[in-house]
Amino acid sequence: MGNYGRFPLRLVRGRGSEVYDESGRRYIDLLAGLSVCALGHCPEIPARRVREQLDRLWHVSNLYHIPIQEELASRLVELSFADQVFFCNSGTEAMEACLKLARLAAARIHGKERPCFVAMENSFHGRTFGSLSVTGQTHYQEPFRPLLSEVRFCRFGDLASLASRLDDSVAAVILEPLQAEGGLHAPPQGYLKGVRELCLKHGALLVYDEVQVGMGRLGQLFAYEHYGVEPDILALAKGLGGGFPIGAMLARHEVSRHLVPGTHASTFGGNPLAMSAALGVLEELTRPGFMEAVCNKADTLSGRFDRLLRQNSAIRERRGAGLLQGLLFDRPVALLIARLHERGVLTGSAGKEVLRLAPALNIPDALLAEGLDILEDTLKEPWSA
Ligand SMILES: Cc1ncc(COP(=O)(O)O)c(C=O)c1O
Repeated sequence: MGNYGRFPLRLVRGRGSEVYDESGRRYIDLLAGLSVCALGHCPEIPARRVREQLDRLWHVSNLYHIPIQEELASRLVELSFADQVFFCNSGTEAMEACLKLARLAAARIHGKERPCFVAMENSFHGRTFGSLSVTGQTHYQEPFRPLLSEVRFCRFGDLASLASRLDDSVAAVILEPLQAEGGLHAPPQGYLKGVRELCLKHGALLVYDEVQVGMGRLGQLFAYEHYGVEPDILALAKGLGGGFPIGAMLARHEVSRHLVPGTHASTFGGNPLAMSAALGVLEELTRPGFMEAVCNKADTLSGRFDRLLRQNSAIRERRGAGLLQGLLFDRPVALLIARLHERGVLTGSAGKEVLRLAPALNIPDALLAEGLDILEDTLKEPWSA
């Protein structure tokens, strides 16, 4: 169907941070499948684990205990604020689970219905009806109304705006710790701490969507560690499977205990193949020194971007954090992205005017430098929308 506007590239194989098209042409991948391929293409350890699992067991359903599912859940619990995990298959499904759990748990905790959600303007949480309802960008929502009616939007980064939307009908505040699709907006200093305090004051749960910014993207395993403020419920997807479809919802027991049998489910959720891929990704991400290396690469990227900002009058700002960074231009970046394709580099956008880079977390320094040299060179030539 015609729902994707695609670039004229036909990619057929990849290894690490390099991908190849049908004609054998090589591209340096600085987008990693939209922040998904955390360890690049066909990463060795997850691939080995999936290959082994392929010969052991593919699917049995959640009618039964699945040891490898328990293994991944235990690992995520050990590494995070959470006590329990629910598995699904994508980011939007993880967010749907978060919305349902938040409503259910808030009603049980307070002994009365709390139907409302407070979400952020400019956010992005996915394309299914619940996730779309808390996505604060009208162009995504408009053709599909009516959506969930009990959603109030406030300005990201503005505590007064949040405070004005909170009362005792609010189940949860939903936010991306750093807004990704909406233009790579980092939260102002102290903002998430203020959000946490307001949530506590009003008895609202705090839900983080770390679908894009979790799993090492900001230089720590979870984005909330980067900002030092824990949520009550957390959504993961993208990088968790390193390219294998998976989503997860994490929560503390006092919240998750309300998700009793029959309240929510996913046929494929916790599928053994997806579990084996994610266990492989986590094995790599938690290797000593891995996150330090991510932070060093992030510093390189920031430094190069700051230099471009000084050199190029078409660039207005450097945005984002960690290995999810971008440049805000004074014009749409679609043509620049296409130029970069011609020169063998894959990048993306976040909104129309922000060039987005989200390379694999283990991109070799030399490849990152080569890709950035090509970007710098491309920017020397005139281009416009
Ligand atoms: C923050 C965030 N949440 C949710 C989603 C939806 O994830 P999926 O496309 O896997 O449903 C995305 C996708 O880009 C995202 O960036």
